[in-house]
This record gives sequence, structure tokens and C-alpha cells, in this order.
Amino acid sequence: MKEILDKLEQRRAKAREGGGAARVEAQHKRGKLTARERIDLLMDKGSFEEFDMFVEHRTSEFGMGAQKIPGDGVVTGWGTVNGRTVFVFAKDFTVFGGSLSETHAQKITKIQDMAMKARAPIVGLFDAGGARIQDGVAALGGYGEVFKRNVIASGVVPQISVIMGPCAGGDVYSPAMTDFTFMVRDTSYMFVTGPDVVKTVTNEQVTSEELGGASVHTQKSGVADGAYDSDLECLLQMRRLIDFLPANNESGVPEWPSGDDITREDASLDTLVPGNPNKPYDIKELILKVADEGDFFELLEAFAKNIVTGFGRIGGRTVGFVANQPMVLAGVLDIDASRKAARFVRFCDAFNIPIVTFVDVPGFLPGTNQEYGALIKHGSKLLFAYSQCSVPLVTVITRKAFGGAYDVMASKHIGGDVNYAWPTAQIAVMGAKGAVEIIFRADAGDADKIAARTKEYEDRFLSPFAAAERGYIDDVILPRHTRARIAKALSMLRGKRVELPGRKHDNMPV
Ligand code: HXC
Repeated sequence: MKEILDKLEQRRAKAREGGGAARVEAQHKRGKLTARERIDLLMDKGSFEEFDMFVEHRTSEFGMGAQKIPGDGVVTGWGTVNGRTVFVFAKDFTVFGGSLSETHAQKITKIQDMAMKARAPIVGLFDAGGARIQDGVAALGGYGEVFKRNVIASGVVPQISVIMGPCAGGDVYSPAMTDFTFMVRDTSYMFVTGPDVVKTVTNEQVTSEELGGASVHTQKSGVADGAYDSDLECLLQMRRLIDFLPANNESGVPEWPSGDDITREDASLDTLVPGNPNKPYDIKELILKVADEGDFFELLEAFAKNIVTGFGRIGGRTVGFVANQPMVLAGVLDIDASRKAARFVRFCDAFNIPIVTFVDVPGFLPGTNQEYGALIKHGSKLLFAYSQCSVPLVTVITRKAFGGAYDVMASKHIGGDVNYAWPTAQIAVMGAKGAVEIIFRADAGDADKIAARTKEYEDRFLSPFAAAERGYIDDVILPRHTRARIAKALSMLRGKRVELPGRKHDNMPV
């Protein structure tokens, strides 16, 4: 009997070796952890339950019959993160470069199916060379099975992808369809086709880092929501992110104990908006002062910085913050900002996370670049996303809310539930200069007349009261009371229900 038991332990030990000591050492030398080390950091200590550690590939092509490594290049299972169930698969680069075979794919789809049954989040850790070349078309079929499940799970359980090494070919599309993608600086890269193919097809010469490193995807393409300096930092931040996320679309947001008084006032907010309406200020200061304990998990921090998106808590419950950032391009809405915020708003709505919107927006960015790039289409994504929301929407206009951008930023008209403005708010079709130039064109040569008209316009329209008189703004509030007023509004809206007409699905301007 003992022999049988020992045999089990030997088989387990063999599987835990992955691709062997030399490949593990090479992995460490590159500053990367192994798949199992990563899972240990992601999950609560001792909570990980591994599945399928004895699975092997079934290929005999190109001598593969003689090369079988238990686990077949991916470690899968489930565990807990701060006590909450999370499913995980981690590509093991030490085994056939983490490449995806038919059986490797089956291990992942088993976990995806279980996450759906258990209605719990799923995290994928990527570090791999794409399709297992020797597996041929079976690998392509495997990818398809994974992709299909990504789509079925979308909006049902949160899906997070973490890129911790190479991620190319078939491996890139699964992360792109999940809710969040994160990278590790210097050791990870993502691209559809690598530098060699690029050179052959376009004659461009680029390194992997230049083509798809963390700086590319967090700053230029917006494919990745964030990047960290090491595997360790990245995985600890993923634990922090998971704490903000609901388990599924029906569970409601997690509730954590908070020692931060929801009626806390902050007098410094009364002077946040400068006297000069063209002077910038940092909207993140407002977010940090409103959120519980100043804890804010920002997404796409380095991309489209003219809008800020991320998770915080109010009264211990998760909220999504969306805020125009006057520090960058005066907080204008452009293509990238619209895309970034639209995707975030849709995530929040899908998972029943209330949205708090801070508005200081001078309008949409003019120019041929923007128009040729389909600003009309991309801008309407954000309008569509907010209009579609059935989650509580609480909006606070701190300063400018001009033109179409006023409507877009969770205004009353498109579904805002509680809409507040600070006394410094200016809610109008446009700023004074532009308005006076158009409606008093005849006075253009007369500086005194123009000055008087400008003053008249500013007094009448550049305030929150024209909107408040119509009920577009529910109240004009003191900045110092912002946290308390939002908290009250969210508490009133906890049971919000919206009935939408039945349909197969909408036709969002993608
Ligand atoms: C089988 C692979 C592999 C693959 C790597 N390996 N990629 N085995 N299929 N796709 C194996 C190597 O043979 C090697 O085995 C080990 O993994 C480590 O690889 P190295 O090349 O030594 O490592 P490194 O120098 O770090 O380079 C990593 C790499 C490179 C950049 C990922 O391996 C690479 O370019 N691989 C191929 C990438 C690729 O073109 N994949 C197919 C994409 S097409 P040993 O035994 O020596 O340790 C695709 C289509 C799917 O994915 C489309 C679906 C929609």
C-alpha cells in the first residue's frame, strides 16, 4: 500500500518540476517566476487546489511522443484571494515554452467552465510562445474553444489577464476579450506577429519591446490597463484589484469594513477649483478625498490621461470613478478618452458597480486627426455606454460642462440618477469667448461692447443655476460635502431597478 501512496507523491513531484531545473533556472535568471510560484503569490497561502497536473499531450509528430511533461505547459485550478474564490490558469514557460496544445487548451477550458458554474472570477497568467507548432490544427481548435468561452463568460464573471512573458499569436486574443489586461515591465510583450514577420512583410525593424512592450500597450495602444515592475508587485496588485470586483454579475459588489466616516467633510475641496477657469487642477485629488481611505485602483493610468477611470469604495462598497482630468488637454474628450471611459462604464454596468462621474469638460477635441479617426463613432461609444447603464449613476459637475460633452458625461438626460454641481460649475453650450464671437459677430470690432457681452454671457450662463432652474441639476452643493452627498445618493439608489425593452442585444457603435 505504501508503495502505491509513494507513487502518487512521485508523480506529483515530477509534475511540479515542470520543464526541469535548468529551464526553471533560466526563467529565474530572466527575472520571471515559475507558474506555480506566481499562483502561490496570487492566492491565499495554502488555498490553491490544482487540477489536471497529470495531463499530457497526445501528439507524436516530430518526436513529441518521447517528450511528455505532466501538466503540459499550463497549471490550472482554483483558490481564494482574501477568502473569495478565484479560478486561475498559469502558462508554464518551462514546458514547451508554455505553448498551447490540444490538451493544454482543454485544461484551460475546464477551468473556464468551472468558473462559470461557480460564478467566480478567472485570472489567466500568460508567458508563452503561442500555438504548439507540433500540435498543428489541434492547437488552433484549442484556441477557438478558449476564445468562445471568453465571450460567453463576458459580463458574467470578471476575467483578468496578466502578461508575464511572451504573448504572441493565438495568445493575444483571449486577453483582449477579457475585462482587464496587465503586464510586467521589461519581461513581457504582446503582439499578433513578432519582429521577424514584421521585417519580412513591412521591412520595418523593431525590437519586441518597441513592438509590444508594456510601455507600448499602456501608453500608445491602450491594450493593457497597467504595468508593474516585477511579477511580485503585479500579482499583489491583482489581489488588490480582485478585492474591488464582484464575484459575478448577480452577486453585487463586495463589502469590506471601512473606518472612514461617510459624512467626513474636506474643507480643502472648497478651494480645489482655481479662480481662473483656464487654470488646471488635479481631479485625482477629488477622487482620493472622496474615496474611502483614499484607496483608488486606477486603470489605464498612462493612456488617455485626459480622463481618469478606476475603482474606489464609498461606505465600504465598490464604485467606479470616471472623471475628466483638467491637467491634461484641459480634460477634453477625444477618441482615446472616449474609448477608455466607454469600456470602463460598460464593465461597471455589466457587474452592477455604481458609477460616480466628476465632470470638468470643455467639449470634444476639434481637428482633422480626430475627425478622420472617427471621433463621431468613438465619442458615441461613451454616450451609448452611459445611456445604456442600469446601475446607479451619481454625477458631480465641478467646473465646465460644455456642449455635447455635458450630455455625454452621465447627464440627467441620458440616465444620471443624482446630478450635483459645485457653485463653480459652468453648464453651457460653450465657453464665453466662442459664444460671444458667434452671437455678437456684428460687435466684433468694438472691444468694450464685446467685453460687456462676454460679462453678460458669463453671468447668465457660466454658472450651475441655468441648469438647476430646469431641474437638470438636483442641487448645487458645497465641495466639502461631496463625499457625504454621494454616499447618501448611493445609499438611496441601492435598490435601483430599470426596465429595458426586450431585445437580442443592442447595436453599440463598436
Ligand atoms: C512549440 C515552442 C513554441 C511553440 C517555444 N517553444 N514556442 N514549442 N511550439 N510555439 C519551445 C522551444 O522549442 C523551446 O523548447 C522552449 O519553448 C523555449 O523557447 P526558446 O525559443 O528557447 O525561448 P526564447 O528564446 O525565450 O524565445 C521565446 C519565443 C520563441 C519568443 C516565444 O520561442 C518563439 O518565437 N516561439 C514561437 C512563437 C510562434 O511563432 N508561435 C506560433 C504563433 S502562431 P526547449 O525544449 O528548447 O526548451 C499562433 C497561431 C494561433 O499562435 C492562432 C489562433 C487564433
